Amino acid sequence: MDKFIVKGGCHLNGEVSISGAKNAALAIIPAVILCDEPCRIENVPNISDVRLIGKILCEMGANVTRVSKNVLDIDARNIKYPVAVSNSVRGMRASYYLLGALLGKFHKASVAMPGGCNFGVRPIDQHLKGFAAMGGKSQTLNGAIVEVSSDRKLHGAHIYLDVVSVGATMNIMLAAVKAEGLTVIENAAKEPHIVDLANFLNSMGANIRGAGTDVIKVRGVNYLKGVTYSIIPDQIEAGTYMAAAAATRGKVLVKNVIPKHLDSITAKLSEMGVEITEYDEAVLVDATQGNLRVCNIKTMPHPGFPTDCQPQFAALLATVDGTSTIKESVWDNRYQYVGELVRMGANITVEGRIAIIEGGELLNSAPVKATDLRAGAALIIAALCADGDTEISNIEYIERGYEEVVEKFRSLGADIRKKFDPETVVVTA
Ligand code: EPZ
Repeated sequence: MDKFIVKGGCHLNGEVSISGAKNAALAIIPAVILCDEPCRIENVPNISDVRLIGKILCEMGANVTRVSKNVLDIDARNIKYPVAVSNSVRGMRASYYLLGALLGKFHKASVAMPGGCNFGVRPIDQHLKGFAAMGGKSQTLNGAIVEVSSDRKLHGAHIYLDVVSVGATMNIMLAAVKAEGLTVIENAAKEPHIVDLANFLNSMGANIRGAGTDVIKVRGVNYLKGVTYSIIPDQIEAGTYMAAAAATRGKVLVKNVIPKHLDSITAKLSEMGVEITEYDEAVLVDATQGNLRVCNIKTMPHPGFPTDCQPQFAALLATVDGTSTIKESVWDNRYQYVGELVRMGANITVEGRIAIIEGGELLNSAPVKATDLRAGAALIIAALCADGDTEISNIEYIERGYEEVVEKFRSLGADIRKKFDPETVVVTA
């Protein structure tokens, strides 16, 4: 498979522009299924997960046109059957949003069990609990297909989530926008992409209040009009480049961001001694003064430190002299990448949900493999700081969520290139 080759010893310097938020796009694109007219979605990241969800909508009968690199025209009115069971659906975690959107429109849905990253169990019991409260009975067919159906229009309900779940919050919102009456979601997740989905739905005429707080109220409506909507910048992509700038002791202006979304990341970098300057739509990360301080990180639902920046910050802390710790509070097992960092000479031990990082040793280049999307980003960061050339495989994970990752890092002075595997190069006649 294709690989990234990354030369170590660089100090990132320059400007990088952040793309649209993957985890907003992966909910907003399926949400168009609920719309009674065509929509134009702008600032869509051109990444493989987005291309895949667009392909799935096409398989179902929608018309999805890429007007330009980051703009999609979507007309989902031709979708006649609430069924999505192709292999494409199995390939991605976010395909569960098809359940909420199809249920909201057709009062029934059959969707292949979602795939996704391999860091622990990824249940959807809270999604199904919300659907059931609204009248959608679910069953799993031979362990592969989730079917949810209601013999009439869904009705509003008062739902208290047992765990703070991004997916369940967004999925219940999708099912509720055209349900009869009021749905209240308590203990809701508050991530920026949840607010973005609510803003998109409201721009079409939905009636959602409270997104971004832990109580969201949705009053059902009958009609959703077509709109043009621009997706928010990706908080996690921004955090990734901020961590990379700090790890390489560089100076990078991270542009096209909403600084408020980055507060927990900015606070942690400042605690480590990185100089952060905030502008209206950019943050300047300056770590050129060299010595950074150790710190302790605990991942939490928003507005806490995002779990999706956890691996990247582990790579950063491996370059900081002294003992740092990370506590992963969201996922059971999000440390599979640690073995790869250890191969590069990092001194990290994992005990349950806690990683203890004895940082400061120079990392060495080594052949390593991405174990998931953010783990792959962490390996790029570690490789930029290592001695020699590091070869990273399984880069398809990275390309699922980072638009033009090679170009963006090269524009910051990194020596990173994609090495095509002769096995996978398709030679056209
Ligand atoms: C979303 O996953 C993101 N994925 C993940 O980002 C992110 O790590 C996660 O939210 C947390 O922020 C997408 O948006 C496509 P959850 P999701 O439901 O919705 C438990 C990335 O790197 N839970 O908030 O699947 C669950 O096991 C990806 O971009 C239940 O118990 O996450 C976990 O411990 C990786 N039952 C916790 O809640 C449920 O029904 C949070 O999960 C649902 C979740």
